[in-house]
Amino acid sequence: MAKKEKIIAPSILSANFARLGEEVGEVISSGADWIHFDVMDNHFVPNLTIGPMVCKSLRDYGVKAPIDVHLMVEPVDSLIQTFGEAGATYITFHPEASKDVNLSIESIVKLGCKPGLVLNPDIDLEVIEEYIPKLDMILLMSVFPGFGGQEFISSVLSKIKDLRKLIDDSGFDIRLEVDGGIKLSNIEEISKAGADTFVAGSAIFGHSSYKEIISKMRKLIS
Ligand code: DX5
Ligand code: ZN
Repeated sequence: MAKKEKIIAPSILSANFARLGEEVGEVISSGADWIHFDVMDNHFVPNLTIGPMVCKSLRDYGVKAPIDVHLMVEPVDSLIQTFGEAGATYITFHPEASKDVNLSIESIVKLGCKPGLVLNPDIDLEVIEEYIPKLDMILLMSVFPGFGGQEFISSVLSKIKDLRKLIDDSGFDIRLEVDGGIKLSNIEEISKAGADTFVAGSAIFGHSSYKEIISKMRKLIS
């Protein structure tokens, strides 16, 4: 399989929600590829964020970039439906949050979106092996989900390497995304371990120049 284009996906969890449309426009015009959209329900994770209406508002505002919806909710199926209708591009969910993972994946595909599964730092790769042929993306969490601005858990590096091998050996066309604690000081190492899709929230939105931070990140992963 040919090497994949590297994707930088700023997480809007760290954006200024009072001016979200502009923030999204600014990171995209500063060189970001996708928007990472963190959905938290104060139940599956201990925080509450944004839902499908906000995704639809971004589309109506004119956002054309892929929207990478990361569901940290339980149950997942009704939100898969509404996010599909709201303009999501990728929809990823945690397998333990679905009663029937195959059915949830199939409903994402039926909506014309790309399905992915997310693994928390303490969940083994074995959990997703059987679903590999059906996935467009596998997201490895490098923090426990719930909040932005946490430290990257360095033991996830070896999991990234193992997943890289698993994906390459499978022959399927699947993105390997990493989410949590990514910043200038570790993005190169994460890329070398085999990631091709990088979520960064606080490192990008906390920087005074989105252009500068995104181009520095890009150099380190290319
Ligand atoms: C964590 C979220 C992440 C988070 C990343 O629960 O899924 O997407 O916003 O933020 P940083 O880059 O600040 O760790
Ligand atoms: Zn996320």
